[in-house]
Amino acid sequence: MAAEKWVLMVTAQTPTNIAVIKYWGKRDETLILPVNDSISVTLDPDHLCTTTTVAVSPSFDQDRMWLNGKEISLGGGRYQNCLKEIRSRACDVEDTEKGIKIEKKDWQKLHLHIASFNNFPTAAGLASSAAGFACLVFSLAKLMNLKENQSQLSAIARQGSGSACRSLFGGFVKWILGKLMLVPSQHLQEGNGSDSLAVQLVDEEHWNDLVIIIAVVSSRQKETSSTTGMRESVETSLLLQHRAKEVVPKRIVQMEEAIQNHDFSSFAQLTCADSNQFHAVCLDTSPPIFYMNDTSHRIISYVERWNRSVGSPQVAYTFDAGPNAVLIARNRKIATELLQRLLFFFPPNSETDLNSYVLGDKSILHDAGIDGMKDIEALPLPPEINSISAQKYSGDVNYFICTRPGGGPVLLSDDSKALLNPKSGLPK
Ligand code: DP6
Repeated sequence: MAAEKWVLMVTAQTPTNIAVIKYWGKRDETLILPVNDSISVTLDPDHLCTTTTVAVSPSFDQDRMWLNGKEISLGGGRYQNCLKEIRSRACDVEDTEKGIKIEKKDWQKLHLHIASFNNFPTAAGLASSAAGFACLVFSLAKLMNLKENQSQLSAIARQGSGSACRSLFGGFVKWILGKLMLVPSQHLQEGNGSDSLAVQLVDEEHWNDLVIIIAVVSSRQKETSSTTGMRESVETSLLLQHRAKEVVPKRIVQMEEAIQNHDFSSFAQLTCADSNQFHAVCLDTSPPIFYMNDTSHRIISYVERWNRSVGSPQVAYTFDAGPNAVLIARNRKIATELLQRLLFFFPPNSETDLNSYVLGDKSILHDAGIDGMKDIEALPLPPEINSISAQKYSGDVNYFICTRPGGGPVLLSDDSKALLNPKSGLPK
């Protein structure tokens, strides 16, 4: 390895995901091994993703990371575990153009700079850690020329944040819990979690009729983190044990079938039931955890009422560890009607302009015939709602994001997309 001041960089983009069969509860806190399998849909990275640039240089004197422009500590156990796992698998790297040669053993001494940026508000509660850890692992694996496949990389991302392992793929993804045993240390080989990894069920083209609308719900409440919440559920909820043992294994089989067959009725019924059971587990935790709020409950009621009035599910809902609703419409026509209904009940307040109220794929707004406030005021009362309960809740939703199932991680070869300066290796 020459002692010049070169900088070698890789930039990648990784999507976020939303679980339709939830992960809630660990059997091993350090390795992040779950108590049940889970299934998610990857969201289109055009609307929700993390971009990460990783750089290596002999001139760096320590590992450093910047998130959305601000330096953060890499001291946490989860970052350290991911870095350790990746460094131990690093291989020789040669860039003949730049005259750089890094040998396998050099990676233990070389330091890294990492810059990460979310194209959505980190504080909105939209699984930013899933996309973040997936992107960290994916980009470092490329930089260090790892030979592991995507599923093997997912087992490393899992050690950053459980749900991150599912962001290594597009489409629908299953996180397989792996061997259930809690293995004593002498059997570490078997119980090291290498079999707790993500696999792709189908890619994003398989069910491309689906449209996803996220309602980012206003909340003043300080939420319990997923990590703390699920620890408390594991310690105190009997429902969690019943769910992991009896309910989820059957649901996983049914969900895989529903996805393979594009069976929206079954898909929606399972998705809603699983979200509701996850929140029931939270209520069954001592002390109980409340993630949904009145707005979340209202959205559930509207969707249930609409689905019932049609006689078959048109929209599925699912909620993670927060009040935001993720609504999955069976096709674009239904998504258009859904957005009209959402804007009828949750119009923007007078200071908000429509362009910053509906984000993502705005063409759905055009299909819905909505160009301005006047169109929202003219929206008719949905036929399934009787006029007495037709109250409007302006200000209860911060904004909507229209999106769809999307693809997995990609490398960005365009240097202008890099977040670090190619000469200094510091944030641009
Ligand atoms: C409700 O992956 O954020 O979103 O593994 O402790 O980092 P840690 O938790 P995290 O939990 C996600 C929980 C969930 C359900 C899901 O994504 O499956």
